[in-house]
Amino acid sequence: MMRNELCWCGSGKKYKKCHADFDERLSEMKFDFMRGQVRPPKKLINNAEDIAKVRASGVVNDGTLDLMAELVRPGIDTESLDAAAAEYIRSHGGIPACLHYEGYPKNVCISINDVVCHGIPSKQTILKEGDIVNIDITTILDGYYADASRMFIVGGHTTPEAEKLVRVTRECMERGIEAARPWHFLGDIGAACGAHARENGYSVVTALGGHGVGKDFHLEPFVPHTGKKDTGMLLVPGMILTVEPMINAGKSAVVTDRKDGWTVRTKDKTLSAQWEKTILITETGTEVLSS
Ligand code: MF3
Ligand code: CO
Ligand code: CO
Repeated sequence: MMRNELCWCGSGKKYKKCHADFDERLSEMKFDFMRGQVRPPKKLINNAEDIAKVRASGVVNDGTLDLMAELVRPGIDTESLDAAAAEYIRSHGGIPACLHYEGYPKNVCISINDVVCHGIPSKQTILKEGDIVNIDITTILDGYYADASRMFIVGGHTTPEAEKLVRVTRECMERGIEAARPWHFLGDIGAACGAHARENGYSVVTALGGHGVGKDFHLEPFVPHTGKKDTGMLLVPGMILTVEPMINAGKSAVVTDRKDGWTVRTKDKTLSAQWEKTILITETGTEVLSS
């Protein structure tokens, strides 16, 4: 591309003032195919306008999670939480991304105790004191997706074991995010995340993982929460990903409910926890776009 042409990223700026240096740095990078190192495709690079739109979507998504924090209590059914989340998202101009996504029947996912993820809200599912609950919410605002989840301890108290799992899982996510750096590799995230889980005697779910996000719900790359440093896709400024470790107190195997086709549980019925943030890879590190 010529230096005076408009940049391929859609910024409207001249190439020389936009991604020319970026492309030069990328072309000079050596990729070790034995380590699965690959160049990120251009479609995963978001421009300033794209980023601003995911950031705005994230504000609504975070507000919805804040509302969930106020509503979670012993005795509430998870369908009421689902309805309140949808009402909040829609009244702020957004769309709940999960609704009808690949046939998913509700607005958000609410996963309790041994449910790893994709728990379907229901009038029959009542939260009780001591449950550990993940609420996972994705908002579409002006066509852009922001995806995050938090854990809640129903009634504020649970067993020391469950409390530790919730805390360590959050730390796994944070360590993964700290390990995400521009011009380093995707595998660094999982390496940091997984090491912390195993140091605490936990296992990492590998059947599901994080993902690119922004112009669509689930984009490349798949983000593993365990793995090796310096492997996988190169991380570069403008990429937007989720880091969303699912950590089990017991073994890592999971099973999907055969009746509803969605609910994922630990095979050994031990507790599982998950936290999720949407992050942007910046020139210097990361920016959280939804949490
Ligand atoms: N929010 C989940 C994620 O983190 C995806 C849920 S898909 C649904 O990627 F269909 F189950 F809602
Ligand atoms: Co999510
Ligand atoms: Co996600």
